[in-house]
Amino acid sequence: MGSGIPSSYDIVGSKGRAIIIAEFPEWVSEEEKKKAAMELLKRHKNARSVLEKSGERSGRFRLRKLKLLAGESRTEVLHKEHGYLLKLDPTKVYFSPREATERQRIASQIAPGERVLVMFSGVAPYCIAIGKKQPLVEEIVGIEINPHAHRYALENVRINKLEGKVRLYLGNVSDVCKRLAEKFDRIIMPLPRSAYRYLKYAFPLLKKGGVLHFYHVAREENGEKVCRKILERNARRFGREVKVLLVKKVLPYAPRKWKFVADAKVI
Ligand SMILES: C[S@@+](CC[C@H](N)C(=O)[O-])C[C@H]1O[C@@H](n2cnc3c(N)ncnc32)[C@H](O)[C@@H]1O
Repeated sequence: MGSGIPSSYDIVGSKGRAIIIAEFPEWVSEEEKKKAAMELLKRHKNARSVLEKSGERSGRFRLRKLKLLAGESRTEVLHKEHGYLLKLDPTKVYFSPREATERQRIASQIAPGERVLVMFSGVAPYCIAIGKKQPLVEEIVGIEINPHAHRYALENVRINKLEGKVRLYLGNVSDVCKRLAEKFDRIIMPLPRSAYRYLKYAFPLLKKGGVLHFYHVAREENGEKVCRKILERNARRFGREVKVLLVKKVLPYAPRKWKFVADAKVI
């Protein structure tokens, strides 16, 4: 693709309509980026626009600035992964197609009759993945603070015909959890930079023998140790015991930093 080759890019959408989100090395000029964007549009016939990642994710909603390089300005798409659909606008909500494999890894662990809590549920990709993979799940509860993401999540539940299985709350995990009367067999915490601050809401809601999926950003060399320590220390605070089942790297996060996941049984 010439000198303006993007260092990486994601395609969000489906066969009918998609957008490309590209990242360029710093030294690439605006003209070269635009040229590369036009080439990407030619190469991917379903792509309607190319957006450039400009800057890191930031703020409570974990959004990043995306700049239109070529194509249509409409950025809402219907993303297809593993047989389900997710409507979303990446300029307004967090979404990463790269996490589809991790969502499937979690979804394939759910047993019939489980009650699952997804904290920080976004446009509901975990809720939908679970509902589709394990139709005998008892209920999936999602909590999300970004109103745009919550609106898309409600729509995604409808699109995927999971009404009655998924219950969604708009609000802060710290407030909503205090209002939940029921306990859960499994709690998923996909907010890697600060999930540890919300463990105090997760432990009291987890049944004895329940499973926690805890995400955390750490350096490659000590991620496993750090995740284990955080879980063990917090469990002690609540008079619980954790049996860490697995700690592994999910995806690279920043130079020398990785997003880790720890699966733990809580007794
Ligand atoms: C890393 S994103 C993950 C979203 C979704 N689970 C996914 O995998 O696409 C974290 C989400 O948590 C939401 N969030 C951040 N802090 C929150 C809080 N205190 N309570 C509820 N949601 C929160 C953000 O708006 C964002 O949508």
